[in-house]
Amino acid sequence: MLTGGGDCPGLNAAIRAIVRKGIDVYGHALVGFRDGWRGPMEDLHEELTIESTRGILPRGGTILGTSRTNPFKTGEGPGRVREAMAGLELDGLIAIGGEDTLGAAARLHGDHGVPVLGVPKTIDNDLAATDVTFGFDTALQVATEAIDRLHTTAESHNRVMVVEVMGRHAGWLALHSGLAGGGDVILIPERPFDIEEVCRLINRRHARGRYFSIVVAAEGAMPKEGTMEVVEGEKDEFGHVRLGGIGHRLEREIEGRTGFETRAVVLGHIQRGGTPTAFDRVLATRLGVAAIDAANDGRWGTMPALRGTRIELVPLSEAVESLRTVPAEDYEAASPFFG
Ligand code: F6P
Repeated sequence: MLTGGGDCPGLNAAIRAIVRKGIDVYGHALVGFRDGWRGPMEDLHEELTIESTRGILPRGGTILGTSRTNPFKTGEGPGRVREAMAGLELDGLIAIGGEDTLGAAARLHGDHGVPVLGVPKTIDNDLAATDVTFGFDTALQVATEAIDRLHTTAESHNRVMVVEVMGRHAGWLALHSGLAGGGDVILIPERPFDIEEVCRLINRRHARGRYFSIVVAAEGAMPKEGTMEVVEGEKDEFGHVRLGGIGHRLEREIEGRTGFETRAVVLGHIQRGGTPTAFDRVLATRLGVAAIDAANDGRWGTMPALRGTRIELVPLSEAVESLRTVPAEDYEAASPFFG
């Protein structure tokens, strides 16, 4: 198996579940590739045993390491993965990841016939085929607690606090932490914002005697075209721009336009670190168990997914064909609490 892309709380719980059931129930031998797709590309691996995975259930991050290596960056990638698997006499590969890692897994299976299974993870919660990804709940708790803490300091100083949370293409984390933390404005990538409307909502609060405001912005939130300048960052191997910066842009715009003292706080990787919540541990464990069951049955090209309250196997291709973004009605449902 391997873990790829951004780390997230719950990865170790999934690894542990695969190893425990794989060895104890099915009698398989398990190998972990290091650092995402770099592992099979450069043949970096270690055997995973019950002993080597003991005690990792509550630990954040991933004992296997991770990277944003793209096996399709050069033409040699698929061949290298195949060779690494053949060298170790592997029956198949379980790739635990988000859109990029699973996208590569789907191509390796669909176009190159490599026996691969996926397991969905990401704090962004943006994978189409599953209702929830593990990592999201923990990140949501962290972001909500941060917003709660920012409330008291915002109120004491009569300030506007802009809280930038993760969420590249999907605003789940911003929307849910904004709802849970009582954010006064929530900005998500799915809905380009109008800075004048943001300032109007903050001014309305002031007019009603609330002299502080909390603005929760997803890092991928974008202003409506031509309304505010944005800066493009560098790109990673999958072509994603490195985000971060909208919080500070908003800080300057809001302070300049309203005259209210404003501070930006970028939560960044704090949201991805640390121990997983009970929900994420359980979900990751259930998905890990379903993944090793599917591997044992030779169901390559699939991915266990949470559908309602049940875990179901879905085609890996379905999991990566589109992103699960916030529907307009979910955002509308939050809007009565704005301003
Ligand atoms: O994909 C998950 C994620 O946490 C995004 O929300 C964020 O944009 C990105 O990873 C950050 O990536 P990195 O860890 O490479 O800075």
